[in-house]
Amino acid sequence: MSKYAVVGNPVSHSLSPQIHARFAQQFNERITYTRILSSANDFPKTLDRFFELDGQGLNITLPFKETAVRWVDHLSDDARLAQAVNTISRNASGYIGHNTDGVGLVRDLRLHHKLDLSGLNTLILGAGGAAKGIIGPLLRAGAKISIANRTVAKAKNLALHLVEYGLTQKGDIPVYALDACEGKYDLVLNATSAEATGQSLDSSEVCVGAFCYDLFYQLDRPTSFCNLAAKQQALCTADGLGMLVEQAAEAYLIWRGKRPKTGPVIESLRKS
Ligand code: ATR
Repeated sequence: MSKYAVVGNPVSHSLSPQIHARFAQQFNERITYTRILSSANDFPKTLDRFFELDGQGLNITLPFKETAVRWVDHLSDDARLAQAVNTISRNASGYIGHNTDGVGLVRDLRLHHKLDLSGLNTLILGAGGAAKGIIGPLLRAGAKISIANRTVAKAKNLALHLVEYGLTQKGDIPVYALDACEGKYDLVLNATSAEATGQSLDSSEVCVGAFCYDLFYQLDRPTSFCNLAAKQQALCTADGLGMLVEQAAEAYLIWRGKRPKTGPVIESLRKS
């Protein structure tokens, strides 16, 4: 039986085992998918051991996505740009680090929310790891991106990083302080970690008339950002459960060469 797992700290909350079990069921495949809690010190050893014991593929979650970049032998383009790995596969040339977060987000927006991203005026709130992970695939999809961050210097660095990678020209990406955004947006993406740390988000009124999407999700209630967006008269709001399932489907495709159906899995998780 093929062995997969997610490594993180904490990891007990991860829905990945349920998601991958549902994917495997669709193809009548027998896999195991477990959660592995690792300390920062043990992280490289944990990965070595998993693959020595015949593991086929890993997902990597917080706080190890950046550390995993140094463990793998090769990086996909998206992982190199994000400087973060959320999926590891193996082949004859060694271990390959992928980042499926951005592609997962784009697929969720297109498939489940019917958004055409080409030319869409898009504001990303946040300039940390989560923002870095989604920006490449969003640009490829044709979104017109602006970045707003509490610490403006970090947003400027992210914009510069994109120029260095040849994805944009200098000045292509407007950068703002979170509470001093200008302009009107079609799509606003919350990529800050405010909710995860129980803090509030003090942004300017950027959600008016926009599709507002929180990369964070909660199964049982709207996230604080979705509530804030609704208060600001957003066109509509959505959380990141669809992105979670889509990034997992991309990992399944990388590992097993088959793309699972995601709609029924999102629906069943939401009901459960
Ligand atoms: P992640 O990998 O989750 O993106 P990160 O790299 O630490 O984590 O980045 C967190 C992001 O959320 C940053 O953009 C951070 O803003 P700063 O660069 O100013 O620190 C943002 N963030 C976290 N808490 C926030 C809050 N309460 N209000 C606004 N932005 C916040």
